[in-house]
Amino acid sequence: MNNTQLTNIILHTDFQIGEVDPRIFGGFLEHMGRAVYQGVFDPECAHADAQGFRTDVLVALKRLRMTAMRYPGGNFASGYHWRDGIGPRAQRPKVRELAWQSLEPNQVGTDEYIQLCHKMAWTPMLTVNLGTGTPEEARDWVEYCNAPSGTRYADMRAANGSARPHAVKLWCLGNEMDGPWQLGHVPADQYAIRAQQAAKMMKDLDRSLELVACGSCGVGMATYMEWDRQVLDYLGELADYVSLHRYVGNHDEDTADYLAVTNSIDRQIEEMDAVCRFVQAKRRSKKRAYLCFDEWNVWYKNHQMDGEGKFAPHLIEEVYNLEDALVVAGFLHSFIRHADVVKIANIAQIVNVIAPVLTRGDDLLLQSIFYPFEMFSRRREGIALQPVVNGPTYISKTYGEVSIIDASAILGDGRLHVFLTNRSQNEIATVQIQLADRQLTAFECAECLTGPDARAANTFEMPNVVVARPFTDITLEGAMAILALSPLSVVALTLQLK
Ligand code: AHR
Repeated sequence: MNNTQLTNIILHTDFQIGEVDPRIFGGFLEHMGRAVYQGVFDPECAHADAQGFRTDVLVALKRLRMTAMRYPGGNFASGYHWRDGIGPRAQRPKVRELAWQSLEPNQVGTDEYIQLCHKMAWTPMLTVNLGTGTPEEARDWVEYCNAPSGTRYADMRAANGSARPHAVKLWCLGNEMDGPWQLGHVPADQYAIRAQQAAKMMKDLDRSLELVACGSCGVGMATYMEWDRQVLDYLGELADYVSLHRYVGNHDEDTADYLAVTNSIDRQIEEMDAVCRFVQAKRRSKKRAYLCFDEWNVWYKNHQMDGEGKFAPHLIEEVYNLEDALVVAGFLHSFIRHADVVKIANIAQIVNVIAPVLTRGDDLLLQSIFYPFEMFSRRREGIALQPVVNGPTYISKTYGEVSIIDASAILGDGRLHVFLTNRSQNEIATVQIQLADRQLTAFECAECLTGPDARAANTFEMPNVVVARPFTDITLEGAMAILALSPLSVVALTLQLK
């Protein structure tokens, strides 16, 4: 470590972006690889509870305080028929699953997922099959989940042990339907018709539903923006949200460039919001669709996606390092800085498959990306403030100029939470946080995540290489808090206000 660079973060409690929707701390559980089986559910495991859920995994995930939990896919959803996953387990079909070429025994389905949501205080969020399924099948699933007993599917639910409706409000209208890899992929106009038919019936059945239209699945797709425009225009008032997906990686082994990817996450959000505003204006509508970033993460090292017909194969079990954790913090900074438009976000995924938590037999490992999520999530209540960041910058090869310190802030109840990332690989950064209009009275708590180098990662043998540790080296001077950030680190801190 050498040199010290100074960055000033200036905040004012009147410079408010919007209330942080807790649902931006959502997750995604797909029937893929070992996410469900050997992930959250494993009756054979020494840690299984009476229902077969792995308590060690659930205890770890509880630390992340996840909210909306998207299920059952992903690409899996486009070949999934929900009726296969209900009723007595012994009678459920074993299915050859095509999205991931795996064997799906349907031992976890709607009712087990809802049971898990209750255990974890997750908000259920279901993706209907608009690939190989019909709009009516989607409607029937809503009836199964939400209708009071007295009709066919609601009675089926009651017969399966849940007299009370599951009350699932959040539903995604298919998954990545613009992708040629998707089962039942269609062009935008055809998807729009299918989604409109499903959405109408679903909302006719339950007016309180919130529906997520399937957006184009990536900034690199030829469909980017135009798909979204067409779909939102056609769905009109039926679309409450549009989905965004983003997976990033250090493809060129260039850490400085990789850490600057946050510029393009900000941009993706702003571009999609522009489409929502455009469609609203064009339709002269009072209703504006908001953003649901329902798949995001780092994913580029492991591309094992063919399950070869096996049950619970090892698929995309990405190993995460320190720089990946900094990029995960970057996504969260960006969501907070766009709290006025990003209302839901789901890290993809939660266990084993591109996940913060890995299992191996009865063992469990917390990966580097676990920690930034935990550090942000425990401080998520409040109103996002617009930070002014005055400090050194650098020009990245792909994403242009970025400040060395990435920042976001939340004004809580008598508290100010500040999140900082030092992107420098070798310089300590001194950061002065100034709250222009209020006194900072006390330092409450902080954690710092860093590690020996950008590629350092936790392993089952050495699980504490990249972990968050309590951080106390903060000085309060009147309205200013001063701290020093190690190279390649993330700090989350809470200060008390007068
Ligand atoms: O998260 C893994 C896969 O990535 C999802 O199933 C799909 O939607 C995306 O392409």
